[in-house]
Amino acid sequence: MPELSVAVFATDNDQRAVLQVLVDGTSVARTVCGNATMPLAPNDPVIRKTRGFAPDVILVDIAKDSVTAALRAMELIHQEIPEAAVFAVGPMTQPQLIVSAMRAGVREYIERPTTTTDLLEAFVRLTSTRRKPGRENSRGKVFTIVNAKGGSGATTVAVNLALALESIHHSTALVDLAPLGHCALHLNLKPAFGVSDAIANLHRLDSSLLDSFMARHNSGLQVLAGAATPTAIEPSASDFARLFDTMVGSFHYIVVDASSRLDSATRLVGNLSEKVLLIAHADVATLWSAGRVAQYLGESGARDRFALVLNRYRKVPGFNEAETEAAIGSPVLWRIPNQYFAVSAAIDRGVPVMQQGSTEISRSIAGLAEYLTKDDLDVKRAAWSLFKTV
Ligand SMILES: Nc1ncnc2c1ncn2[C@@H]1O[C@H](COP(=O)(O)OP(=O)(O)OP(=O)(O)O)[C@@H](O)[C@H]1O
Ligand SMILES: [Mg+2]
Repeated sequence: MPELSVAVFATDNDQRAVLQVLVDGTSVARTVCGNATMPLAPNDPVIRKTRGFAPDVILVDIAKDSVTAALRAMELIHQEIPEAAVFAVGPMTQPQLIVSAMRAGVREYIERPTTTTDLLEAFVRLTSTRRKPGRENSRGKVFTIVNAKGGSGATTVAVNLALALESIHHSTALVDLAPLGHCALHLNLKPAFGVSDAIANLHRLDSSLLDSFMARHNSGLQVLAGAATPTAIEPSASDFARLFDTMVGSFHYIVVDASSRLDSATRLVGNLSEKVLLIAHADVATLWSAGRVAQYLGESGARDRFALVLNRYRKVPGFNEAETEAAIGSPVLWRIPNQYFAVSAAIDRGVPVMQQGSTEISRSIAGLAEYLTKDDLDVKRAAWSLFKTV
């Protein structure tokens, strides 16, 4: 493993000295510069100085009394020195802080107070993902699929959307967070491990251990399976924050099937998501629920990430889409046709509609995948060839 050069930002002098000693103690990394001030603007001299050292990793300490300054610094550093991986060192007890750090572009979130072992593991994870072409410093996008009301089709949409994304980019994971996971059934997989194993091993979770907990579908899609029996003990939101921290470092796209799970975990994962798709039927009861679900999940984050997907869509006389959007506060992003026999046979056989050639429903879901990735420059060419053949 080549030696990594590390720049440290910590306003507290003792903490800065400790971090430098710990970094050098890993013997795979070396501190090249220490900074006592956080940058305040893109042209801050401390950014210029740090860039001059060409660090591989920039470690930012989140001190209790300067959380906002540290978050702002991470955002600036990520933006101004994109070739370096930003690691945050902060408390694990505040899921919202972990989410904010990840949104600021942080690659690893390490517990404070930290140890040489924690740092060593993070450095090893960085070099092992760097070996995967195309994953350097980039973080995957999460799309969360939630039901407006039970049975609206969240699992069907999640599974098929994940397959469509996999065929575009080949680096897609499907994570089953439903209270009782159905994704493996839809894909005819018999996974030995799943989400609960990844959570139980968070302290040593890196991309290769994560890989070993995932089931590989014949399409190449990697599946982190859900609960096979209802379980009473739920992992904390912080656990999920750490799991997704590893996931976004390992995959380009992560589709989450939350189905009808409405708790702090779905809320947290929703906050980390590029888009939260609310799956609804165009009936009064479902749309009433959709408004309530969006309100609950969006309470602690931006609502503009929410969008409605009308499943089993058909034109209903008197159904006014504009009024629905206004009432729920989320736009209708997509309409998926009603094809009961095709969909239920696909579930029964364990061969999703996306794998059954060109049908109205597979074209619709391929179109949704194309729409969700339309701004991702690196997938444009591949997407074009996929949709030409569908
Ligand atoms: N586009 C569609 N056209 C016709 N039938 C559909 C469509 N999408 C889903 N279904 C049917 O709806 C049923 C429920 O689908 P699915 O299991 O995906 O829903 P869910 O929202 O994940 O349910 P749960 O609340 O149990 O998690 C299935 O039997 C499936 O056949
Ligand atoms: Mg489901």
